[in-house]
Amino acid sequence: TRAVDRTERGNRGREEDSEGHNEAAITPTLVLSVFAAVLGSLQFGFNIGVINAPQKIIEQHYNATWMERQVTDQPVPIDPVTLTTLWSLSVAIFSIGGMISSFCISFVSEWLGRKRAMIANNVLAFVGGACLGLAKLGRSYELVIIGRFVIGAYSGLSSGLVPMYVSEIAPTRLRGALGTLHQLAVVLGILAAQVLGLDTLLGTAELWPLLLALTLVPAAAQVLLLPFCPESPRFLFLARGKEAKAKESECPQGRGLQGKGERPGSKWRDLGWKEKGFRSRGKGLEGGGRDREQPLLVAIMLQLSQQLSGINAIFYYSTSIFEAAGVGRPAMATIGAGVVNTAFTVLSVSLAPSPGTLPPPPGERMGRRTLHLLGLGGMLGCAVTMTMALGLLDRVPAMSYVSLVATLGFVAFFEVGPGPIPWFIVAELFGQGPRPAAMALAGCANWTCNFLVGMTFPALADACGPYVFLLFAGLLLAFFLFTYFKVPETRGRTFEEITATFRRTPSLLDHEVKPGTELDCLGPNDCA
Ligand code: GLC
Repeated sequence: TRAVDRTERGNRGREEDSEGHNEAAITPTLVLSVFAAVLGSLQFGFNIGVINAPQKIIEQHYNATWMERQVTDQPVPIDPVTLTTLWSLSVAIFSIGGMISSFCISFVSEWLGRKRAMIANNVLAFVGGACLGLAKLGRSYELVIIGRFVIGAYSGLSSGLVPMYVSEIAPTRLRGALGTLHQLAVVLGILAAQVLGLDTLLGTAELWPLLLALTLVPAAAQVLLLPFCPESPRFLFLARGKEAKAKESECPQGRGLQGKGERPGSKWRDLGWKEKGFRSRGKGLEGGGRDREQPLLVAIMLQLSQQLSGINAIFYYSTSIFEAAGVGRPAMATIGAGVVNTAFTVLSVSLAPSPGTLPPPPGERMGRRTLHLLGLGGMLGCAVTMTMALGLLDRVPAMSYVSLVATLGFVAFFEVGPGPIPWFIVAELFGQGPRPAAMALAGCANWTCNFLVGMTFPALADACGPYVFLLFAGLLLAFFLFTYFKVPETRGRTFEEITATFRRTPSLLDHEVKPGTELDCLGPNDCA
């Protein structure tokens, strides 16, 4: 604690460097760079939400195409099972794209650098957006499916590149706030898609291709803006050893970098497959027990808890879920879910601890582990309530309101912890070397489960009826227990301390660190 105080004081003292630059200042370049980067997260969210409301209309297009292709005077409509399969595939192939591309995050971000990787990624956005926009004209459902796959690949890369770039350009004391902007942009993208998908706006038989192609707008904006943004100085400095470039960088973080530039790049072996170096002592870092787990296990399990909570069953299929629950205006209820989702993400931004050096904001009292547990527990309660309400719907029509409220509660609790925390925690648990590889593995685990939920939910819902959310309730309970017993509290700890503790190297609590040492200057994780 004394050492931490000293480090904090040291860091505070260093907010202005010798040339008088204010490291913690929000400069126009920083604003532009974060904005340009999270346009990628916006697209990720947009494409999650966009196929929800216009489902029926696009299914009609599938049916029309199916019938047109039959060379007979009396074409038969598509059978319901084939239609469900084609639709689930159109929804879920997005996550196959994400699954495959997220595995390449490590390679692409080290090869091209963070910034150029984000720019190049837009080739996928343009190809995907074009396929989606031309599907009606081309009388094809294949184009929708291919477009969803390609745009999924774009989103998979974005979901890793954006949090990595933002966390690497952010001044230490702003890292917490800026880091959550990824999730905020995702939920705003979902909301924008839900609103624009209304049948009074673009969710019509004529305009749906335009709706799906709208993803081209943020793609174009990102390509135009990113060239004016600096490359991550941390990448230039640590991965490439371009010390002078990093220091010249207009990004304030770059000026704080000192010491030896050359460092090994991303190493899969640095992930610690073999070592049992992760100390999660029972209830938390300060707790009792002696369990040893790997940070990788925690990172992956948190991603699984995000996706297998069933959240995307709501964001992909809420319109049909609300319909089945007897909710009057399902499309409006879907937008309600989007609004609640956004509101609670904003709340969680203010609750989440901003790691690092300054005195904690008011919400710091609730650590990440607590927020994650609260979120999972709340979702569990809502899933059980939803199931009971749906079970009683035949006898008590008012239960449709209960199920609506429970669904909105499910979404709200998601954003308290399971939404933002898993994306964020990977960057916390790993140092600069293994971070891209860890991002890739965690991202791939996330997208695989996203796919499983998207693909199987309609069939599960058909098979289980009102009880389908009980499956998620069971999984939520399991993840709650895992988090309770295995996930350490990171509250009030700098990234250095977290990583140091996991790696069994002496922690900052064990010795004093003089302000201005290399470790201090490189910031989070880089001492690991
Ligand atoms: C997270 C998840 C994403 C989900 C979204 C909902 O970003 O990764 O799959 O759709 O939250 O807000």
